[in-house]
Amino acid sequence: MSSAPIYEATASAPVNIAVIKYWGKRDTKLILPTNSSLSVTLDQDHLRSTTTSRADPSFEADRLWLNGKEDQITAGSRLETCIKEMKRLRKETVEDVDASAPKLSTYKVHIASYNNFPTAAGLASSASGFAALVASLAHLYALPASPSTLSLIARQGSGSACRSLFGGFVAWQMGSDPSGSDSLAVEVAPQSHWPQMHALICVVNDAKKGTSSTSGMQRTVETSPLLQHRIAHVVPARMADISTAILARDFDAFARITMADSNQFHAVALDTEPPIFYMNDVSRAIIALVVEYNRISLAQGKGYKAAYTYDAGPNAVIYALEENVREVAQLILSYFPQTPGEFKDVLGIFSGAADVNAEA
Ligand code: DP6
Repeated sequence: MSSAPIYEATASAPVNIAVIKYWGKRDTKLILPTNSSLSVTLDQDHLRSTTTSRADPSFEADRLWLNGKEDQITAGSRLETCIKEMKRLRKETVEDVDASAPKLSTYKVHIASYNNFPTAAGLASSASGFAALVASLAHLYALPASPSTLSLIARQGSGSACRSLFGGFVAWQMGSDPSGSDSLAVEVAPQSHWPQMHALICVVNDAKKGTSSTSGMQRTVETSPLLQHRIAHVVPARMADISTAILARDFDAFARITMADSNQFHAVALDTEPPIFYMNDVSRAIIALVVEYNRISLAQGKGYKAAYTYDAGPNAVIYALEENVREVAQLILSYFPQTPGEFKDVLGIFSGAADVNAEA
């Protein structure tokens, strides 16, 4: 007796942390940004989402479970858009080309996704989550699509997710086409180009953030004059300069640009009406410590040793090279001992990522 085939695939994608920040959309439905951005994807072992997708003719609806709990897929939502777009790619690039291919695009899908890091850590999980969702459906549908093509769809789930389709150093080119066809992620350099690059994640506060990235950046677009200056006169040069720094493995330039861009992102948040504060006193104390640590190192002619960056929350990510990363971790922990107070923990030391994993 032959049993019906099972169509199932699993993929995982890591978190990425931007060094040139994405903040602002010119198209909120297609998620087209007001500036290009660049990030480092963290390694697979720790901070990643793993997603299993299954297509079956007996399923009555598309359904999704996040960490074991069902999440509704509402009409017009980003989730629905991503699933719909993946089915369209399956139809156009597989089923329309090969008449014998099973019509998986007509089946409903069930999707289960897990994060292997504490959701409570307050780290953005939407980037790894949407990247893993798209990667697992791409695998299920046997799509002949490049990571850049898949990034066009992950982008419509959450902007920063498009960068998690690649490991290593990744740029999201803002593009100019109103359809969004050229707003995609490209690899600047693989992790193997600069394996000494590490990231230290300092969990300052694990509470859910007050203003979500999505609503915060929209308010900034509507009210901040500083954002217009940033988009036109700052980010384009920084994108070029940090790419050059990465290709040359120039940590001094990488650190200077990374910290300047984090500072400017938080300045445009403050320039928003009403103002948005993502960092707290501990975040600012960590900045002061890193600045002083670098100052001493620079005075000794040793260059920069650490670069902080903060996303839409108080948690610090500190980039440092392998030779300095333990010293940086010890420094942070000696000034901010792990207590039940505001500073929670150094979550770990992560290296640049391996590529997105997929298995049948
Ligand atoms: C500060 O990608 O979470 O982390 O596109 O609305 O889902 P949506 O926003 P999201 O914003 C991330 C903002 C950031 C900077 C960055 O990752 O580039």
